[in-house]
Amino acid sequence: MLDRPGWAPKQIDLNRPNAARMYDYLLGGGCNTAADREMAKRLVARMPQVKETVRLNRSFLRRVVSFLVGQGVTQFLDIGAGIPSVGNVHQLAQGLDPECRVVYVDNDPIAVAYAEPVLKDNKLAAAVLADFRSPDQVLNAPAVRSLIDFDQPVAVLTLMMMHYVPDSADPARLMGRYRDALAPGSYVAVSHPSFTGAHGELLADAEAVGEIVHEAVEPLNLRGADDLLRILAGFEPVPPGVVHLPLWRPDSTADIGRHPERSLVYGVVAAKP
Ligand SMILES: C[S@@+](CC[C@H](N)C(=O)[O-])C[C@H]1O[C@@H](n2cnc3c(N)ncnc32)[C@H](O)[C@@H]1O
Repeated sequence: MLDRPGWAPKQIDLNRPNAARMYDYLLGGGCNTAADREMAKRLVARMPQVKETVRLNRSFLRRVVSFLVGQGVTQFLDIGAGIPSVGNVHQLAQGLDPECRVVYVDNDPIAVAYAEPVLKDNKLAAAVLADFRSPDQVLNAPAVRSLIDFDQPVAVLTLMMMHYVPDSADPARLMGRYRDALAPGSYVAVSHPSFTGAHGELLADAEAVGEIVHEAVEPLNLRGADDLLRILAGFEPVPPGVVHLPLWRPDSTADIGRHPERSLVYGVVAAKP
């Protein structure tokens, strides 16, 4: 495994677990260290469904990109993109339409450092170090400005990222800043942990999870369907609206299973009218 990979910036402590690398490990990727794996294993021991959750989230991502390309969207701004793993947005989108442009944004230098070599031969994709909470920084990043035409529809993806944005940062206001920058016909896609079932009942012990991952991860802000609709004010959710991940436009390969709520995560795609 890559315990001192050449791409890792020197100032980054690889002995300290990192959220993006832990997520990479849970996805079966190779960009993680012993510290990440140890913490991820403790997380899985406490909450075994987490592996299924990340798998269902990537399946949601695949269906979302396919839906959006089907709607004619060829520009993607993937905020909180994480470390590139199998089935990345640029691979999915450009596999459907080679003209698709994709900019990955993450506020973790590790995620961006790993993305850069993966994308170096791809003229229509780039990775940017920026923070969702600073819309000006994201929207004015040189790679964003050179690859994305904001006069044309854009899909903003924030998958499994918004739960790192606390209410005190006002995610609805931030999302409004992105909405205002987008042309009509643009979309936003969100997946967001709730840890709740169909009737709001808690299906996982958020506190215990928080105790395990606090060293690597900002406190988790779990949100329900109504919270997501509030954050997406001014966008119109496309059917089926906010649903547990497996229920969002399942295709022949999507695994709805008997208990879709055990994904613990809601997904929604919404359009700017
Ligand atoms: C759980 S990963 C999700 C990766 C990918 N979007 C997916 O769903 O498979 C969350 C990513 O969001 C990034 N992140 C967290 N807060 C962020 C912020 N405020 N701005 C940009 N990225 C952020 C983390 O660094 C991490 O790489």
